[in-house]
Amino acid sequence: MEIATATARPTTQYAKGFESLEDEVRIESLPVEGELPPWLAGSLLRTGPAKFEVGERSMRHWFDGLAMLHRFSFSGGEVSYANRFLESKAYRAARETGEITYSEFATDPCRSLFKRAMTLFMPKLTDNANVNVLKLGERYVAMTETPIAIEFDPETLAAAGVAWEVPGELTTAHPHLDRASGGSLNFAAKLGPRNTYRFFLTAPEGTEADVLASAPVKEPAYMHSFGLTERWIVLAEFPFVVNPLRMATSGRPYIENYRWKPELGTRFTLFDRSTGAAHGPFETEAVFGFHHVNAFEDEDGRVVADICTFPDASIVEDLYLDRLREGKPIDKPELRRFTIDPSTGSVENELLVEEGLDLPRINYGRCHERPYRYVWGAGTDGTSYFDRIVAADLETRTTRVWSEPGSFPGEPVFVAAPGAEEENEGVLLSVVLDAAAGTSFLLVLDAATLEERARARVPHHIPFSFHGQFAGA
Ligand SMILES: [Fe+2]
Repeated sequence: MEIATATARPTTQYAKGFESLEDEVRIESLPVEGELPPWLAGSLLRTGPAKFEVGERSMRHWFDGLAMLHRFSFSGGEVSYANRFLESKAYRAARETGEITYSEFATDPCRSLFKRAMTLFMPKLTDNANVNVLKLGERYVAMTETPIAIEFDPETLAAAGVAWEVPGELTTAHPHLDRASGGSLNFAAKLGPRNTYRFFLTAPEGTEADVLASAPVKEPAYMHSFGLTERWIVLAEFPFVVNPLRMATSGRPYIENYRWKPELGTRFTLFDRSTGAAHGPFETEAVFGFHHVNAFEDEDGRVVADICTFPDASIVEDLYLDRLREGKPIDKPELRRFTIDPSTGSVENELLVEEGLDLPRINYGRCHERPYRYVWGAGTDGTSYFDRIVAADLETRTTRVWSEPGSFPGEPVFVAAPGAEEENEGVLLSVVLDAAAGTSFLLVLDAATLEERARARVPHHIPFSFHGQFAGA
């Protein structure tokens, strides 16, 4: 049993972003400075950790916090805001019992070894969907890395049950759109005495998983996202791996069962989307990463996969709450391009731009699976937390930066302007912590120039979150 207790520690300027938010509000019109684009109509829906203490105990890791949904709705140059805890089983149990009762990323409930043994391969999987939001068909869904995604009402933010089936014990909160069917294509890991990676399709209105491709694996790698081209599913196995049999009896929280084994290298496997056949693995040097940015095939049939990477998996340790609150910097992420030649098995690896960025976004509707030019992300130089927004032009290999002293932005979500001709014609929406004020605001930037268009201030802080989606009206 491990207990993290709240003790007095020195805190950093942006520590507020890792504090719990209890307030749930609905505000019809936020005060706006500047001018929102008149064409901006729809909702930015985000999920993220917002409650880090339950009873006497504290969550240990940023990824553990109980999920809260946030909605910014735009109409006629105005913006409304609402937030609400996601009414997951994990959240309800925490509220009702005052205890952490589900296993989170790096925080376990207190329980005996005997009880752990009893739950071998039948763990009480959390449904604390604090990582990403997806709109599939007409459904809005909050997701995490367990197979329990939760549908919710985009207006009231009330939870509406489990969204779909996942053929495994682990999945990602970064599914891709399958252009042909309009469905969602995602990864699953089936764990047990034998382990299998799987890729599966969920129809826009469906709940059943249609497995398209699979491959056996002895020690599954931690998988946060994957790449997709028109022909291939791109699986990148970073050498941060787990022995599932040992995990079941280790007594350690989930992520602390993974081991960094750089001798394995980074292994790319390409799955043919039409046949499911696996090609590879194709090996290159060891790196770690959470986020694939985009992937496509070049004229020579090579597969280009752009990924935000780190030299190793120590970023996972950087994201424990006590370290973040003390101001220990996070590693600088590197935007790297891996070019895989399926005919020779060679993998080239190059750094695309000097600026460090993660939580990457692209003009997804237009460019996903295809050659593209622009990436936007939250940036850091490795001496602090994310303190800038970076726009990278992959053609000129140049970057633009937005930053402001004391401001700490999250993921910049790209929204294309109606009838846009250029790939980067539109705006970025980012929730920013104003550290001095102790509150957050929604920042609207011109995506091409990073000039500010508007900001809308929220009356409270919004704990730093991971991902969201814009759903047009
Ligand atoms: Fe993510």
